[in-house]
Amino acid sequence: MNNAVGEAQTIVLLGGNSDIGVAVVKAAITSFTRTVVLASRTYDKGEQVAATIRRDGLDVQVVAFDGADTASHEGFVDALATRFGDLDLVVVAFAALGDPEATRTSPMAAAELAHVNFTGAVSSIIAVGNRLRAQGHGALVVLSSVAGERVRQANPVYGGTKAGLDGFCQGYGDWLAGQGVRMLVVRPGFVHSAMTAGMKAAPLSTTPEKVAEVTVKALRGRRRTVWAPPLLQVLFSVLRHLPGPVWRRLPLG
Ligand SMILES: NC(=O)c1ccc[n+]([C@@H]2O[C@H](COP(=O)([O-])OP(=O)(O)OC[C@H]3O[C@@H](n4cnc5c(N)ncnc54)[C@H](OP(=O)(O)O)[C@@H]3O)[C@@H](O)[C@H]2O)c1
Repeated sequence: MNNAVGEAQTIVLLGGNSDIGVAVVKAAITSFTRTVVLASRTYDKGEQVAATIRRDGLDVQVVAFDGADTASHEGFVDALATRFGDLDLVVVAFAALGDPEATRTSPMAAAELAHVNFTGAVSSIIAVGNRLRAQGHGALVVLSSVAGERVRQANPVYGGTKAGLDGFCQGYGDWLAGQGVRMLVVRPGFVHSAMTAGMKAAPLSTTPEKVAEVTVKALRGRRRTVWAPPLLQVLFSVLRHLPGPVWRRLPLG
């Protein structure tokens, strides 16, 4: 259950080892929070992350979760609810960046990435949404990306999955809102995380902690979409309308 000021008692992270997801969870924990569930593909890594969150009075559990295994998602969420009760805040952070060279040319590599980042994300969001609707309350935070705002040739399959996911979340989130369930879509720019390790940072690059700050602030308000850093919203309101020949010459990677 959430308290009167919207603080969550039980927080779930799908993609339990995600640097951004973990930062969001850490920022969302308050003295009211009793349980954090890290739903991780890699259990050992999940346990290491759990150790950085555990403290007196806060139960942190790691459970096995595969975002690609869409057939398991409904049962997975039901099992979470049976074990932990109401799910107050669910953060959906799992995704892969993929290898642009491979995904641009290999139908199988492209399909595999699209399956995790789009199909698996949509499937798990709907499974969570069903549960939150049944509870009559709760919030979903979904990690989208500026990469989906205007898809670049640098990584078109990844960008395409984020464009599709973001579009789905806009419509599905509006539908959920009428049923007492909150959806917040977060569009970070380049974030220094495991996903981008070794890559050249893009302009306005940021950290998982800064994305978390923007996200938790937005959760306290009424916005349904936020950008991190917020300046990206202004920048992309221009960039998304640039003529193709100009857009393609920009040094955005
Ligand atoms: N980093 C950026 O610049 C950036 C920018 C905009 C948006 N985002 C988005 O933010 C979210 C979090 O990214 P991040 O930067 O925190 O990256 P990250 O640290 O690499 O986290 C991504 C996580 O997704 C998990 N994952 C991948 N496939 C999975 C699957 N099939 N089932 C379960 N978990 C799976 C990985 O698990 P393992 O630990 O088991 O590999 C990994 O922990 C992603 O949705 C990403 O697209 C990132």
